[in-house]
Amino acid sequence: MKVLLTGGAGYIGSHTAVELLEEGHEVIIIDNFSNSRKEVLDYITQITGKDIIFYEGDVCDYEIVTRIFEEQAIDVVIHFAGYKAVGESVIKPIMYYQNNLNSTLVLCDVMQKHGCKKIVFSSSATVYGNPSSLPIREDFPLSTTNPYGTTKLFIEQILNDIYVADSEWSIALLRYFNPIGAHESGLIGENPHGIPNNLMPYIVKVANQELKELSIFGNDYDTPDGTGVRDYIHVVDLAKGHIKACETVLKGSGVDAYNLGTGVGYSVLDLVKTFERVNKVAVPYKVVARRPGDIASCYADPSYAFTKLGWKAEKTVDDMCRDAYNYIVVNKG
Ligand code: NAD
Ligand code: UFG
Repeated sequence: MKVLLTGGAGYIGSHTAVELLEEGHEVIIIDNFSNSRKEVLDYITQITGKDIIFYEGDVCDYEIVTRIFEEQAIDVVIHFAGYKAVGESVIKPIMYYQNNLNSTLVLCDVMQKHGCKKIVFSSSATVYGNPSSLPIREDFPLSTTNPYGTTKLFIEQILNDIYVADSEWSIALLRYFNPIGAHESGLIGENPHGIPNNLMPYIVKVANQELKELSIFGNDYDTPDGTGVRDYIHVVDLAKGHIKACETVLKGSGVDAYNLGTGVGYSVLDLVKTFERVNKVAVPYKVVARRPGDIASCYADPSYAFTKLGWKAEKTVDDMCRDAYNYIVVNKG
C-alpha cells in the first residue's frame, strides 16, 4: 500500500510509519512540525533502513495537499494531524476547531477530487465522555467535555456525512485509549515540550529527576485503590492497529468505529509501582486534589477490533514502562 500519514512526524504517526515500512509499504508524510521535530524523520529511516517521502507543510493548506495527490498515487490516508492537549483546547478553542476541523475538511475535499476515498482517522476514547458502564463498547452514547474532544466528535460526524453522501468512501474511526511507551530502539517516543499533562511522560521526567515529584490527581475515586483507572496501550501495538485498519478500509466501503485498547484498566498507582519495579528507579509522588474533568475509570471492550480488523494488543504494561523510560535513557546518551 502507498499510505499518506498526515502528522506522521508525531508520536503515534512516527511509530505507525515504522511499522508500515517494516511490512514493506510505502510511506508519505506531511507535517508542519507544530508538535514534533525534523530529526524524527531520520530516526524512522535509521530504524527501518527505508526511505520515506516527506512534505513539510500544513494540512489546512489546500495547495500543498493538492500537490501531494497530484504527485503521489495514494491508496489510503491516515489522518493523525491535529492538536491534542485537552487543557489548551479549553483556553484556545478557536485554534483547536480551526486546525482540527479545517485540516480534515481540506484533506477530504482534496481526496474526493482525486478519487482517493479511503481514510483512517485518529479519534479518541474521549468521545465516550463519562461512560455509564464499563468496559466501553463502540455503540455507547457519545458526548464530550472539552473542545478537543468535541473536535473529534465533530470530525467523526463529518466523516459519517461524507459516507452518506458518497458510499464509495471507506472510513475507519479509531478510538484510541491511552497510548504510552515507545519504540524498543529508543529512537522515537513521546517527549512533550515543557511540563507534561499526561501521566506517563510526567512519570518519566520524575524518574529522570527533571521534575521533583508526581502529583496524583485524587485517591478518592470509586476504584480499587482510589486513583484513576485507564486502559494504557503500547504505542507499537496501536501502530499495528493502523495497518490492519488500512487493509480493512481498502477492502470495501462503509464507515465504522473501533476501540483500540487492551481491555484492561490500570490505576495511577499501578502504573507508578510497575514503572518503579521494571526500571529500578524511584518515582516520588504526592496525592493532590482531583483534576477537573477527569473520570474515575475508562477501559475498552476491544473485541470488535479483533473481530473486524483481526487486531489485538499484545504488549504488557511492563513493556510500556520499560520502553517509555528507555526512550529517555537512549536520548540522554
Ligand atoms: P502529536 O502531536 O505527537 O502528533 C501530531 C502531529 O501532527 C505532530 O507532528 C504535529 O506537528 C502535526 N500537525 C498538527 N497539526 C498539523 C497541521 N495542520 N498540518 C500538518 N501537521 C500538523 O500527537 P499524537 O499523540 O501522535 O496524536 C496523533 C493523533 O491521535 C492526534 O489527532 C490526536 O488527537 C489523536 N489521539 C492521541 C492520543 C494520545 O494520547 N496521544 C489519544 C487519542 C487520540
Ligand atoms: N494523572 C495524574 N497525574 C498527572 C497526570 C495524570 O494523577 O500528572 C492521572 C489522571 O488523573 C488520570 C490518569 O492519570 O487518572 C491518566 O491521565 P492522562 O492525562 O495521562 O490521560 P487521560 O485519560 O486524562 O486523557 C488521555 C488523553 C486524551 C484522550 C484520553 C483518551 O490526554 O486526549 O486519554 O484517549 F482523549
